[in-house]
Amino acid sequence: MVADRAGAGGCYSAEMGTTVVQPASRILGRLRIPGDKSVSHRYALLAAISEGPSIITNYAPGTDCTSTLSCLGALGVAVDRPPDGPDRDLVTIEGCGINGLRAPQGPLDAGNSGTTVRLLAGILAGQKVTSTLVGDASLSRRPMGRIIEPLTRLGARLEGTDGRLPLTVTGGPLTGIDYAPPVASAQVKSAVLLAGLQARGRTTVREQQLTRDHTERALPMFGIQLSMNGSEISLEGGQRPIGAELSVPGDASSAACWAVAAAALPGSEISLEAVGLNPGRIGFLAALERAGAAISVEDRTDAGGEPRGTIIVRHGTVSPFEIAPDEVPSVIDELPILAALATHGGRLRVTGAGELRHKESDRIAALATGLRALGGQIDELEDGFEVDGSKPLTGGQADAAGDHRLAMAFALAALGAGAPSEISNAEAVDISYPGFFHILRNLSQT
Ligand code: S3P
Repeated sequence: MVADRAGAGGCYSAEMGTTVVQPASRILGRLRIPGDKSVSHRYALLAAISEGPSIITNYAPGTDCTSTLSCLGALGVAVDRPPDGPDRDLVTIEGCGINGLRAPQGPLDAGNSGTTVRLLAGILAGQKVTSTLVGDASLSRRPMGRIIEPLTRLGARLEGTDGRLPLTVTGGPLTGIDYAPPVASAQVKSAVLLAGLQARGRTTVREQQLTRDHTERALPMFGIQLSMNGSEISLEGGQRPIGAELSVPGDASSAACWAVAAAALPGSEISLEAVGLNPGRIGFLAALERAGAAISVEDRTDAGGEPRGTIIVRHGTVSPFEIAPDEVPSVIDELPILAALATHGGRLRVTGAGELRHKESDRIAALATGLRALGGQIDELEDGFEVDGSKPLTGGQADAAGDHRLAMAFALAALGAGAPSEISNAEAVDISYPGFFHILRNLSQT
């Protein structure tokens, strides 16, 4: 829920999910970023099929990661999470073992979360249960053929509706496969590896473009051995994961919002603590540097499976920049906010990003519609877009279309507009970053 009212300085107000964003001159501050969404899903799912308890600290606060926990609860996994308060990010899971999930009473509701559906399907492929995965209207439009095909080859039975949800998975005895996903997708790779863990023999995934490797980093934390050779990942089935104590790094995609705001507004400086620095996620740092920002990283540590550190971003003149196809996987979720950055006097061309059309919304079409509504100039390409930020935004009314990344992108663009802007369906930020608008208000200076 967007809970902002016109506060000190009357910066933001929310009514029926519409939020008003005031222009800002700069942002200043130091903050800790909530836990990473991608990593939290993986730790919870692996904990569920482990032997013994797992304790996860800094679990992501968004509703997507809550969806994963409720699906696991429905599959008979004991999940303990404080209902509210400062300890809500502490999750304890009593694992059921590699074959121990129970048949759910009803459909498993993944809400808005593609990662929940696709990774959980990989696990369900090897379980002795039949279950049906469902989701909200956005998730129900997204393609599931990309997991149906390899999981069927492993030996599971998956029945979708035109390659979409509802998706009924009947687990079965699996046999390892050698698979080269036709799309660059960490979710597909992870689904195949999670099924392969339960299969007879060896499973190999060969990536044509490297994607985030959180699953490959998480598996050894639970005692699973895998071998990696360049873009090829293999594991032997039949290994039994063991519960672990894990701490989730700050979400790089959430941190990227404040990095973009600092890069966009003259005189800004922001320090973002304990952010995950997984190379598959921080393509935005190189992009921001090319766009003119000054970036440094301090307090780096490699402890705990995922590298992390403090990112410091200072404004520099916003310059034209490009994202080439081979960079796309490492910035896939940050492309909307990089487009927002370009509206602050820069220019951006993105190609090779057709996958954006299959996200929580058609992120190319909805981004173009929203930025134009704020007075921006953006051309849609089949596999990307071009933003011309030479004229400042006027401000206006943009529809986030229920897509969390677009709600944040429109807010960051609106900071540089000549007048206040209204963003509708802005409560979508709760999917990955509850409190986003409060923090924006606290960091912004008029
Ligand atoms: C994710 C992978 C990416 C990303 C999504 C989270 C993950 O999707 O866009 O937000 O946690 O594995 P794809 O694997 O479909 O590219």
